[in-house]
Amino acid sequence: MAVLNVNIDHVATIRQARRADEPDPVWAAVQCELAGANGITVHLRQDRRHINDRDVQVLKQTVACKFNLEMCLSEPMVKIAERVVPDQVTLVPEKREELTTEGGLDCVRYKARLAQVVKRMHKKGILVSSFITPDEAQILASAEAGCDAIELHTGAYANAANDRTVEKTLNALRDGRDIATAAGLIVHAGHGLTYRNIGPVAAIEGLWEFNIGHSIVARAVLVGMRAATQEMIQLITS
Ligand code: PXP
Repeated sequence: MAVLNVNIDHVATIRQARRADEPDPVWAAVQCELAGANGITVHLRQDRRHINDRDVQVLKQTVACKFNLEMCLSEPMVKIAERVVPDQVTLVPEKREELTTEGGLDCVRYKARLAQVVKRMHKKGILVSSFITPDEAQILASAEAGCDAIELHTGAYANAANDRTVEKTLNALRDGRDIATAAGLIVHAGHGLTYRNIGPVAAIEGLWEFNIGHSIVARAVLVGMRAATQEMIQLITS
């Protein structure tokens, strides 16, 4: 059965909007874990726009389920992973000006660097997943570089504007799963998945781990807003 890793980056985005100390993503991680999440995912970006080094350090010490660190292939990031030793790293491309991760990692172009990083992560006992589009060349390059898993980019599916494109993108994910499984890779999926569009992707057998962030944090703000308002009224009026 497939499992959920909650990406809590945007809890930190809210904190950073005020450069305050709340909401603490570490507290959010505890809630996700208590709710049954398989894992906690964070993306330590080079510009530290949401998750920061302290978060990664404290999460490593406090997350009891799987701790999945998303990062790019840059040397400073690889050194951080070697020092922190998360359970898993998911290797992603990163552009400073992007709002969120755009496209997958080009494992064909960066295969030599990827293979080096995989070796260094494996030396520390860290599982390695590469975040890629469901493209045969990318999948095979990930396998050849020694990755344990791939995360299939579901962005094209999430952005599909009509039923035909939805079906086409679901077929691409199924084909990607088949190629990856035949190459000995574990298959994960994520990006742009929401409460509305998760159904057909969750129904694809052989996708073992979903990484979902924005939609869960967005929902949490709304389902928690009533209780938060009532608590503050209580403090003002009592
Ligand atoms: N998987 C990867 C590799 C990502 O980079 C992200 C976004 O940080 C996600 C999953 C989660 O995407 P979303 O926030 O759209 O659920």
